[in-house]
Amino acid sequence: MIAHAPLPSVLPQLVPHHVAIIMDGNRRWAESRGLSSSEGHARGMDALDRTVVAARNAGVRCLTVYAFSEENWARDAAEVSDLLALAARFAAREIQAPTGSGVRIRAIGRRDRLPESLCRAFEALETHTADETGLTLNVAVDYGARSEVAAAARALAREVAAGTLAPDAINELEIARRLWTAGQPDPDLLIRTGGELRLSNFLLYQCAYAELWSTPIPWPEFDAATFGQALDAYASRQRRFGK
Ligand code: FPP
Repeated sequence: MIAHAPLPSVLPQLVPHHVAIIMDGNRRWAESRGLSSSEGHARGMDALDRTVVAARNAGVRCLTVYAFSEENWARDAAEVSDLLALAARFAAREIQAPTGSGVRIRAIGRRDRLPESLCRAFEALETHTADETGLTLNVAVDYGARSEVAAAARALAREVAAGTLAPDAINELEIARRLWTAGQPDPDLLIRTGGELRLSNFLLYQCAYAELWSTPIPWPEFDAATFGQALDAYASRQRRFGK
């Protein structure tokens, strides 16, 4: 996943720092071609690779993608197993890639239900790419925004109980510091493919002021040109932050 030199299509100040993507439509894409959902997700991985390169080339600093939601556990066992195997293949491939790609990879989400081997692979991947400085790629696996906020609330409660944090010191920043995206800017742009208009429990706290952009294009067909359309739409928006 080596990223090339930046070729921004819009003025640098109009490029979003952080783009979040709900990569939807893999199964519908596969079904419409008589393929298995597994094939749809595999083609979705190719689309992710293209998008990482496009984001890096455009000068995006942070990209967060929804690879496996908490709700996805309710899919049939074979599909869950396929998705987790894809995540494992992704981690294994990236751990073997030489350093210097410019892409730092982090896995965000719950860690108490995933296979131990996958958790270890994510840790190894985070270590392997820790010094990359171009783009941070957050891969959300067993992710749910409400769980994330609940985990932050538990962390705050523990600190209050231990006497290391005053209840009155809890503010929006202190909550953000205990989210899985701590230390990263909030998403400026949230893209959803596959035509639906839903947030699906993704980055609810962080996307308070994100610009939303949706396309009917299913995720396996997403490419640099479609990403460019989203960036162009973002560049034309007036962000007022409620003012
Ligand atoms: C939503 O489409 C997509 C997913 C549940 C999986 C997304 C996974 C990838 C794109 C592969 C990359 C994975 C990793 C681990 C890096 P859907 O299955 O809900 O499609 P539908 O809306 O057509 O049913």
